[in-house]
Amino acid sequence: MSADPKPLVIWGASGHAKVLREFLCPELHRLTAVFDNAANASPFEGVPFYRGNEGFVEWVKKARPDLCAGIVAIGGARGLDRVALQLLMRDHGLELIRAIHPTAFVARDAVLGEGCQVLIRAVVGVEVQMGAACIINTAASVDHECILEDGVHVAPGATLTGCVKVGRYSMIAAGAVVLPRIIIGANAIVGAGSVVTRDVPDNAVVVGSPARVVRYQTPLEA
Ligand SMILES: CC(C)(COP(=O)(O)OP(=O)(O)OC[C@H]1O[C@@H](n2cnc3c(N)ncnc32)[C@H](O)[C@@H]1OP(=O)(O)O)[C@@H](O)C(=O)NCCC(=O)NCCS
Repeated sequence: MSADPKPLVIWGASGHAKVLREFLCPELHRLTAVFDNAANASPFEGVPFYRGNEGFVEWVKKARPDLCAGIVAIGGARGLDRVALQLLMRDHGLELIRAIHPTAFVARDAVLGEGCQVLIRAVVGVEVQMGAACIINTAASVDHECILEDGVHVAPGATLTGCVKVGRYSMIAAGAVVLPRIIIGANAIVGAGSVVTRDVPDNAVVVGSPARVVRYQTPLEA
């Protein structure tokens, strides 16, 4: 006899939530609530919606969070938000789940932190190490021995060749290519379609081929 599906909540009511729900196994999970700071409705018919932190607290009071699983559906360059929301959910006793699409390849010895997501046809190669809340998006490729810190997003079709290191909360945008052994700092953005041939400093936004710095983001608080 199979166990009842575990109640699942998703933080984020955007398209990314739709992507996750599409494949999170219905035999294992039953979506019971959606939270979002900005949206004002659930994208899923019949699934209750709660607005922001206040809504989450309201839900916590009437649910049994210790019996629920949770995942954050926030993409873009918002790794810091993803990590913070995961911590909030974990502090309230939710089990943080990873989402690995059945068409993705994840090497047996790859290490994936809490809440990591590897989406449709993405590849995570041998000896890859990923911190918490990383997203390897549709058809992206993270090759052998790459190291990704917390909250990194490798967007659709981007390629990290071997031994690349990416600092926390950085985003490698759609279709970008990062050459072997490059080090990308924290809170950086590699623009869509760029080819990264040199190390990228913390907070830098780089674009083009070869990629050049076009601006710096506000540094993150320590
Ligand atoms: C890199 C990026 C973040 C820059 O955004 P921005 O700071 O708003 O920059 P702007 O759009 O003002 O562009 C600044 C300059 O860089 C150029 N530029 C922006 N993105 C570029 C790119 N990917 N490649 C080449 N040039 C680019 C612009 O044409 C502009 O040049 P100009 O000053 O000569 O006109 C954005 O262009 C990008 O690539 N976003 C990624 C989207 C993505 O893949 N998201 C993932 C979804 S899952």
